[in-house]
Amino acid sequence: MKFLVINGPNLNMVGIREPDIYGKKDFAALQDYIREQCAEAGVECELFQHNHEGSIVDRIQQAYFEKIDGIVINPGAYTHTSVAILDALKAVAIPTVEVHLSAIEKRESFRQFSYVSLAAVKTIAGKGFDGYGEGIRFLKEYIEGK
Ligand code: DQA
Repeated sequence: MKFLVINGPNLNMVGIREPDIYGKKDFAALQDYIREQCAEAGVECELFQHNHEGSIVDRIQQAYFEKIDGIVINPGAYTHTSVAILDALKAVAIPTVEVHLSAIEKRESFRQFSYVSLAAVKTIAGKGFDGYGEGIRFLKEYIEGK
């Protein structure tokens, strides 16, 4: 089983950006954690981070042709704005889990709505790095149960 783990804009700045919200551990640590969680779950994983919406759309489309089994995505701010990322996820119809480091439901009103959640089998928010591990385990079980 092969997963694609996508991090959107400004996620490469974790550890530097607003540490009170996103924590003090950096992006290299997040990537190491994701690789470790995939290995523990026994799934292959491909990591992708990009700050540009179109590049994320391109990567999701590519996943279809690579026969990726599942997508874990933290779309960053595009969560709340991107119909294009939602449409790409719907187009490839690959089971997707949405992850957010922070509890978006408890933050500003503009973070309350997620386009991506409309294409996700589950949304996990407010659990920091652990949310990615939970997302990976959930997605594996979800796909195995299909
Ligand atoms: C985020 C939440 C978004 O609202 C924000 O724009 C981000 C990060 C999170 O991981 O908590 O960039 O997706």
